[in-house]
Amino acid sequence: MPDLTASLLLAATDIREMAYAPYSNFKVGAALRAQDGTIFTGVNVENVAYPEGTCAEAGAIAAMIAAGQTKISEVLVIADSPLPVSPCGGCRQKLAEFSDGDVKVTMTTTEGNSQTMTMSELLPGVFTQAHLDNT
Ligand code: THU
Repeated sequence: MPDLTASLLLAATDIREMAYAPYSNFKVGAALRAQDGTIFTGVNVENVAYPEGTCAEAGAIAAMIAAGQTKISEVLVIADSPLPVSPCGGCRQKLAEFSDGDVKVTMTTTEGNSQTMTMSELLPGVFTQAHLDNT
């Protein structure tokens, strides 16, 4: 694993412990590197009204935006799952707002089962600003 990805893995592994997931018991940690090199992290935050819960990726994006960064260079997501944890559809669109198609997303488990895909592979046919151009 490249050093830059390894630093995302460390950050996401640490922050995952802080997830608030009393309903699913599925703690997720996300780390993303912004264009200036800063790493931002997030965790899933569930709610007793289940649909109000938010994903780890959304938390990391919110932290990046609050810090004044708007371009994602790389993403990593980790959970204690039998399979590399895959960003949900909504999170793929959220990540795409701030990522080019060649941005790498590493999906991994706490056991080290890991898979890396690009944003274009994760969300082919992404809805973009170009679709709004006639409005
Ligand atoms: N979850 C994330 O935070 N990120 C993902 O990529 C997949 C799913 C959360 C949402 C919910 O709190 C829990 O995992 C189970 O779906």
